[in-house]
Amino acid sequence: MRAIGQDSFGGPDVLKIIEVPRPVPGPAEVLVRVRAAGVNPTDWWHRTTGGLAGDAPVRLGWDVSGVVKAVGPGVTLFQPGDEVFGMPRQPAPAGTYAEYVASPARHLAAKPAGLSHVEAAALPLAALTAWQALVDTADVRPGQRVLVHAAAGGVGHLAVQIAKARGAYVVGTARTVNHDFVRGLGADEVIDYTRTDFVTAARAIDVVIDTIGGDYGPRSLRTLRPGGVVVSLASPAEARLADEARALGLRSIFMITEADRAGMREIASLAGSGRLRARVDTVLPLEQAAKAHEIGEAGHTAGKIVLTVSD
Ligand SMILES: NC(=O)c1ccc[n+]([C@@H]2O[C@H](COP(=O)([O-])OP(=O)(O)OC[C@H]3O[C@@H](n4cnc5c(N)ncnc54)[C@H](OP(=O)(O)O)[C@@H]3O)[C@@H](O)[C@H]2O)c1
Repeated sequence: MRAIGQDSFGGPDVLKIIEVPRPVPGPAEVLVRVRAAGVNPTDWWHRTTGGLAGDAPVRLGWDVSGVVKAVGPGVTLFQPGDEVFGMPRQPAPAGTYAEYVASPARHLAAKPAGLSHVEAAALPLAALTAWQALVDTADVRPGQRVLVHAAAGGVGHLAVQIAKARGAYVVGTARTVNHDFVRGLGADEVIDYTRTDFVTAARAIDVVIDTIGGDYGPRSLRTLRPGGVVVSLASPAEARLADEARALGLRSIFMITEADRAGMREIASLAGSGRLRARVDTVLPLEQAAKAHEIGEAGHTAGKIVLTVSD
C-alpha cells in the first residue's frame, strides 16, 4: 500500500510517498481502508523531533475516517463494510497517512451517516481533545464561563461548540478576521488577542482551554474566578503552572489526549445531530502531505486540514 514516510527528522520536504506492506489486524483490531486522514500539529511535532515516539521517525497521522475492510480475532463491534472514524492508539503512533491502518476496534466509532469522510476525519483528535479537556477534566457545567484560546483553530472551534452544547457561556480569542466564524459557532464574545489584552477583557472565568502556552498560562490564571481551572494543552512544560495556580486557590492541569471510545461516541452523537461540525479549511491529496504541513505550521488555519487518501 501507499503511505507517507520519512527517513529523517526535518521540514515538510522529508515527507514522501513510500510503499509498505498492508497491515494485518491483530486480536481485537480492525483493518480500515482510509478514505481521509486529518492533519494535526502533533504530526509536525513528530515529523521534526519524533515527539512522544522517540529516536526513529514513525509513520504519521492519528485521525482517520474510512471503511472497515477486515476484522481481527475477537472483534464484536464492527464488520467489513462499516464506516468508522476515530483516533487510533494516541499517544502511541498510528500511521493514518496511509491507504490502510490497523486500529483497536474500540478506538473507533461508527461514522455519522450525514458526514462525509473528509468531515469525519477532521474531527477525532481535535474534538476528543476538546471533549476530554472540557468534560472529563474540567467537568464544565451549564452557566459556567469558558474561555477558549485560539477559538478559530482545530481544537478551539470544536471546543466552542462542545462548551455551548454543555450550556456554557463562551468567550473566545481569535483575530478579527475570524470573529464572524467564531460567533457563528456559538461563541458569546470574541476577543482579538492582537489588539486587546484578554486578561482585561475576560473576567470571572470558570474554565480556560489553553492551546497556546508560554505566558498564556499565567495570564489565563488571572482571568479565573476562585476555584477555576486552566486546562493546558500546548506542551508538557505547562505542568509547571500547577503550583502557582494552587497558591492562588485555582487549578492548572496539563492534559494529553488519549484514544477514547466513550468520547468518540459522544462526538459521533453531537456530530450526528448537527451540534458539532468541523470546518474544513483545506483538503489535499495524500501525496501533498508536505504542503498540508506547510499550511498548518503557518499557524492560522481556521478549522482543520484533511488529506484525502482513497475513493
Ligand atoms: N495536549 C494534547 O494532547 C493536545 C491535543 C491537541 C492539540 N494540542 C496542541 O494544541 C495546540 C493547538 O492545536 P490546534 O489543532 O488547535 O492548532 P491549529 O488549528 O493549528 O491552531 C491554529 C489557530 O491558532 C490561532 N492562534 C495562533 N496564535 C494564537 C494566539 N496567540 N491567540 C489566540 N489564537 C491563536 C489561529 O488563529 P488566528 O488565525 O486568529 O491567529 C488559528 O486559528 C497545538 O500546539 C497542539 O499541539 C495538544
